[in-house]
Amino acid sequence: MKHLLSLETMPRAAMETVLKASAGFKTGRGGRHAQPLAGQTWALLFAKSSTRTRVSFEVAIRELGGQPMFLNAADIQLGRGEPIKDTARVLGRMVHGTVIRTYAQSDVEEFARYSAIPTVNALTDQEHPCQILTDIFSFEEKRGPIPASIVAFVGDGASNVAQSWIFAAAKLGFELRIAAPNAFQPPRDVLRRAGVREMGTATGRGCGGELENGGRLLVTEHLEQAVAGADLVYTDVWVSMGKEAETATRLQALEPFQVNNALLKFAKPDALVMHCLPAYRGKEISENTFESHASTIFDQAENRLHVQKAILNWIIS
Ligand code: CP
Repeated sequence: MKHLLSLETMPRAAMETVLKASAGFKTGRGGRHAQPLAGQTWALLFAKSSTRTRVSFEVAIRELGGQPMFLNAADIQLGRGEPIKDTARVLGRMVHGTVIRTYAQSDVEEFARYSAIPTVNALTDQEHPCQILTDIFSFEEKRGPIPASIVAFVGDGASNVAQSWIFAAAKLGFELRIAAPNAFQPPRDVLRRAGVREMGTATGRGCGGELENGGRLLVTEHLEQAVAGADLVYTDVWVSMGKEAETATRLQALEPFQVNNALLKFAKPDALVMHCLPAYRGKEISENTFESHASTIFDQAENRLHVQKAILNWIIS
């Protein structure tokens, strides 16, 4: 049985299978295609807000022939303290697969273990694998294979999105640079697990090194160093869901790390700008930079649908 719990544990070959199949689902939409989820009901168990992930999975499940069932975690007994492993054992006897958005990565892993049905991580505090698979698909459809490319992530380098980018770079072998203030750089443990071979002199201000498959990782406080010659400049919200109590600290620390036109002068002239949305203009990205790159950003959002189909198709095959 397959799950998609993290990019850390997803084999490279599986990532490549999903990325390749996504193009077919995109071009084939609206035509007659297989209904691999016919007769199946999939639960969407969400403990956090969502627009793109929820809608793309609901539509993807329907268009693949299945029935989605949305469960707000607060509305079921899970919200009143029923253990995740008991919820998992019940759903596992009634539905065919589950897509989960929650806080702890361990909850998704526990759910998969106890439910014994295919389980997809739709975002935890540690990873957002479906998003980063979509981002890579979106990059490759505009610029070709990612391995020879430079991706600059600017902002909260300790976030779930940044961590999934790190594991993607380690699997697919591209150059990832993370520009983040010292307090918001990826945990050393994540870098070790991603296989960074040379951590650099730990001055507390930056580190990096070689990755497997020819990739490289740089973590720095220096924005211009991270963005220099980048093919893709990527940012995400500064206050992730669950971090609201840290809002003031985060806004202050991350203020210099805005993606704007002045910063983009250091990237390649035709660099793509992506944002996984929702975007907070004037915070992580300026209004005019967002609108100048809106076509790419909303292609990226649409691609969630095509990639979710490829994920579901891979997971049940
Ligand atoms: N990018 C993303 O996961 O969007 P939602 O939170 O709207 O699902």
